Amino acid sequence: MSTVHTLFATAAKGTEALVAAEAEALGGEQVEAGRGGVQLKGSLETAYRLCLWSRVASRVLLPLSTCRAGSSEQLYAGVRKIGWSEHLDASGTLAVDCATTEAAIGNSHFAALRTKDAIVDQLRERSGSRPSIDLHRPSIRVNVYLQNEIATVSLDLSGDALHRRGYRGRSAPAPLKENLAAAILMLADWPSLARQRVPFLDPMCGSGTLAIEAALMAADRAPGIGRDYFGFLGWRQHDAALWKRLREEAVAREVHDAKRLPIIRGYDADTRAIRAAIANAEQAGLHGRLHFERRALGECEPITVPVSAEVRGLLVTNPPYGERIGERTELAALYAELGDVLRRRFLGWTAAVFTGNRDLAKRIGLRPRRRFELFNGPIECRLLTFPIASTPVRGDAQPRWRRHDTRT
Ligand SMILES: C[S@@+](CC[C@H](N)C(=O)[O-])C[C@H]1O[C@@H](n2cnc3c(N)ncnc32)[C@H](O)[C@@H]1O
Repeated sequence: MSTVHTLFATAAKGTEALVAAEAEALGGEQVEAGRGGVQLKGSLETAYRLCLWSRVASRVLLPLSTCRAGSSEQLYAGVRKIGWSEHLDASGTLAVDCATTEAAIGNSHFAALRTKDAIVDQLRERSGSRPSIDLHRPSIRVNVYLQNEIATVSLDLSGDALHRRGYRGRSAPAPLKENLAAAILMLADWPSLARQRVPFLDPMCGSGTLAIEAALMAADRAPGIGRDYFGFLGWRQHDAALWKRLREEAVAREVHDAKRLPIIRGYDADTRAIRAAIANAEQAGLHGRLHFERRALGECEPITVPVSAEVRGLLVTNPPYGERIGERTELAALYAELGDVLRRRFLGWTAAVFTGNRDLAKRIGLRPRRRFELFNGPIECRLLTFPIASTPVRGDAQPRWRRHDTRT
């Protein structure tokens, strides 16, 4: 019988339920979505599977202990009670992260420093040598979460945030995090539509994150397979044979047969964005699996392929919304144009628009079927889904210039 651990998968606000569903599918038990993430019970295999397969989680933590942390002395003493030699060789490397919520020790940097001191002092006393600090790729990354007077000390098994899949080199302005893009796609029902080979289009794709994540999902590619670093690889309890087996299983699962994969495209008016998207897709090993092209929204046409699904295609996009790029007045016209293009050309498709600006979203002029609240960093955003009627709305059947033409 393998040991059952309590695990905590951290998740951005609004994505907890998606991470909970992933955790259940990956073998987690007693899965509970809560503030900031999902708690579950699972074996080491479940923990590794989460690191390899979760598309939405931010990090996977293995809580080791909780202790009182009303003061830095209490925190230091509590951390020293943990048997660190079970986790780290004295010749290994270490990093400590600290997050706080209404904590008695308000300075998270200081709390991280005291935690590091406690670990180093303990190992030095026991072995005569001390681990060194490596903030980039340590043997183990320790996570301290301080809430009021309690500290939870965990190993960060992911080691580095899971959204870093290893494919993003070049970025256009305002890229989405990969795990937020994956959450958007899940809420837009892409995994099920992809299985039915429904075509996918992002007409304002930027560096291609939504299209690339869509291609990874469609191919059943493990999002973590391209990473060469996790926080458990240098951990003393790492099970290398198990990890090797899970990686091999993931490699074997990937769908390569083009006949089983949907058409995926991304357009953008900006040449640099398209160059970045192509470079990122190549880096992700998706050569030939998706297509990027410089094209303005006004030139965007639906992909027409016979599909058995009710939906003829899925359009998912993240137009600029003025927080970081673009001006709001110009953007109002862009959103109106998006609504126009959808109504006139994308009959029978479903559109999902992710934006941080509700007023701009109204300019689309379509009634959303569903609304989801998500956060892009600190910015509260909405994902709105619009079914586009499969017959043209009266008065929208013809392009504007033609309507104008007939009047004159
Ligand atoms: C917020 S960014 C998209 C970021 C993208 N989701 C990513 O992860 O990289 C919005 C994109 O819309 C593009 N865009 C703005 N106006 C456009 C238009 N009229 N036609 C096509 N693309 C446009 C911009 O060039 C920009 O790349």
